[in-house]
Amino acid sequence: MLGAWGQIILLERKCTRSIFNKIYTKATNIHRFSTHQVSNAVNFCLTDAATTPDIAFELIATTQPKVMYICGAKTWVDGCESDEAAALIVNAEAPRLLARIAHHQEIKVVYFSTDYVFDGQGGPYGEDAATAPLNVYGKTKLQGEERVLASNPNALIIRTTIIYGPDALGKNFVCQLVNALKNGQRFTCSTDQISTPTYNEDLADMVVQLVGKECSGIYNCVGTEILSRYDFAVKVAQYLRLDETLIDPITTEEEIQRCKLNGRARATRGLKLGLAMDKTLAALPHFKPRCIKDSLQHWMDCQDVNSLTK
Ligand SMILES: NC(=O)c1ccc[n+]([C@@H]2O[C@H](COP(=O)([O-])OP(=O)(O)OC[C@H]3O[C@@H](n4cnc5c(N)ncnc54)[C@H](OP(=O)(O)O)[C@@H]3O)[C@@H](O)[C@H]2O)c1
Repeated sequence: MLGAWGQIILLERKCTRSIFNKIYTKATNIHRFSTHQVSNAVNFCLTDAATTPDIAFELIATTQPKVMYICGAKTWVDGCESDEAAALIVNAEAPRLLARIAHHQEIKVVYFSTDYVFDGQGGPYGEDAATAPLNVYGKTKLQGEERVLASNPNALIIRTTIIYGPDALGKNFVCQLVNALKNGQRFTCSTDQISTPTYNEDLADMVVQLVGKECSGIYNCVGTEILSRYDFAVKVAQYLRLDETLIDPITTEEEIQRCKLNGRARATRGLKLGLAMDKTLAALPHFKPRCIKDSLQHWMDCQDVNSLTK
């Protein structure tokens, strides 16, 4: 698992107790890789691997994985704008190299992507919709998809969006929202950027099941509700009985003007994004994605509500 401290780490738990075990191997031998010096992960940098391919060969030779999950990415959407070359290496070139090596060794590759590969004029998008990224992050992730599939046609590309749920580092949108509201701080959310927020427990389940069924190509794995960031935030606040009046609506146009005034770089974002799940649900007919309320309830049942914040 590359990108061990990202938000998809939950995959690990799912892998150890899923149907995927029956098909592949006992997934008890999970190797985690991180750019951080952390006790339970081996240091591995995608940028280094892209420039020194021996690092990638060595990684695969020493771990002999059955499945390689490429969760690592440069995900700071605004930050990618100022360094496209670096984003391209991490989001596309290193995944291409890993996918090519994996193909020669019959290792399954799972590459995570995003609805930012679209321009946001007609979402939620199916897997076959025409792509047209508006920003560097989306562009480099699309290049990642294309390069991974070109070098490894058996690869599985998972497109997802706005991941929330149990998160040890408290990085995700809901954690940040809850943290702010609990501390009496105001929280600004756009009213016109629409998407399909994704509960990470469901995402991990779907991914592991798709791997178990040996699916390849592009699959959308998201939540079923289509709503703006603002409506999502209000829904969360209401369900968790937090003060929703602290949530300030903002339009994308107002956000752009505010960034200009503050001299902050801001990547262009599409408005009507989100992904449609017909293909994934057809492949997984027994899978029932949770609605947002059930996801929040499940999250609280798993963890004390205080652990929603860091
Ligand atoms: N979160 C979302 O809402 C969302 C939406 C759509 C798509 N995605 C996709 O899902 C995947 C995971 O996203 P995430 O939300 O978990 O992102 P994240 O929290 O930003 O984590 C990404 C991880 O990438 C790793 N990384 C960054 N640069 C690296 C490098 N040079 N070498 C190796 N690893 C590097 C880091 O891992 P370490 O810190 O362990 O080094 C980081 O934790 C990404 O491919 C992203 O594009 C996420």
